[in-house]
Amino acid sequence: KKSEAWSARFSEPVSDLVKRYTASVFFDKRLADADIQGSLAHAEMLAHQGIIPAQDHADIQRGMAQIQSEIAAGKFEWLLDLEDVHLNIEKRLTELVGDAGKRLHTGRSRNDQVATDIRLYMRAAIDDILGLLRELRLALVDLAEQHADTILPGFTHMQVAQPITFGHHMLAYVEMFGRDAERMADCRRRVNRLPLGAAALAGTTFPIDRERVARTLGFEDVCHNSLDAVSDRDFAIEFCAAAALVMTHVSRMSEELVIWMSPRVGFIDIADRFCTGSSIMPQKKNPDVPELARGKTGRVNGHLIGLLTLMKGQPLAYNKDNQEDKEPLFDTVDTVTDTLRIFADMARGISVKPESMRAAALQGYATATDLADYLVKKGLPFRDAHEAVAHAVRTCVDRQCDLSDLSLGELKVFSALIDADVFDVLTLEGSVAARNHVGGTAPQQVRAAIARVRALLG
Ligand code: ARG
Repeated sequence: KKSEAWSARFSEPVSDLVKRYTASVFFDKRLADADIQGSLAHAEMLAHQGIIPAQDHADIQRGMAQIQSEIAAGKFEWLLDLEDVHLNIEKRLTELVGDAGKRLHTGRSRNDQVATDIRLYMRAAIDDILGLLRELRLALVDLAEQHADTILPGFTHMQVAQPITFGHHMLAYVEMFGRDAERMADCRRRVNRLPLGAAALAGTTFPIDRERVARTLGFEDVCHNSLDAVSDRDFAIEFCAAAALVMTHVSRMSEELVIWMSPRVGFIDIADRFCTGSSIMPQKKNPDVPELARGKTGRVNGHLIGLLTLMKGQPLAYNKDNQEDKEPLFDTVDTVTDTLRIFADMARGISVKPESMRAAALQGYATATDLADYLVKKGLPFRDAHEAVAHAVRTCVDRQCDLSDLSLGELKVFSALIDADVFDVLTLEGSVAARNHVGGTAPQQVRAAIARVRALLG
């Protein structure tokens, strides 16, 4: 029989089913790097404080280096009997360096160990995600720049509302992903605190130096209450909430890409490498990537609710329930990371069809508000202007023509204030150019916004 981790206290071994049920090694081995980093910092502190001999520290360093290369080479033997990543590594360390390995766990518990590992893992994951959000924003900004003047209809209620520029539309997503980055960066501050030293729940009797370990591991602070340090996973929940918003934004964008790529709309095409065909219909090119991203948003939203539910009934301090935090957390990291990586690439594979966009913007009386604003500038109260234009639109609907198809004489029927200069206002270019203030759709503002974001992103 291979090693039992705590056999002395027990009179019978657990069943194989219970062993499998309680083990986490097959998913938490992903924390191996973080676990070794944390152990090395802990061992360094123990030696510095004279809690273990300097020679033990040196042996631990040597053993851990060996373990790292075994893991990297795929030669490390992960054992279910050793339950989790922590005990697997500690056991192997002891095989390699003897008693020094057995002293590593002095003043430490798996409870503060695992909390530290997750935080180290998440800090790196957040940094990756921040980099990917930046790349995605840069790609969208480039697309916005190419189409600062390209006009398409803006929609409300999926009905043509007012003309906008495609650049402006892309910059809306740049804003959303910018706030996502802010949320991730803010979450990182609370992730980046050290649980080690909390031990099982109450702290330890050894003269440890927690600040030293925090410095070694690059944590901004230590967790200031040992019970809280080992038991709360609010930082992981917060991360999943920020991740769910990232995916929600990706999903909204995906929905638009799918609609825009539909031949009935035909606003864009997506490079073939992001699309797949049909096994039966030879003509098909389907926008699988955005559809899948929209679908995967559901699982990330689910993980957020899963973690909230995991936490809500737990008394202080650590409970084994918390082992269930890992799979949803890892899956959230994988899903968000892969999705952002693909989207940053796909954004550069979107080709815009300005002619279809323009044709769509010319239908649906997109410049009706411009006509109302025109009348207001001539002195008519807005509500009266709204009513006059509504009559004009009604007439156009009956005649199946656009507002700009009416002659000056015909337009004057709706208001005597209308003059020849009205036709500037009724054009798509005039409409977008007139919305020339911070946050507006005018090409000039789009260019200013692009410059602002580029400066921000460095
Ligand atoms: N695998 C455990 C987890 O993920 C490690 C901590 C276990 N501690 C304990 N006392 N059982 O939470």
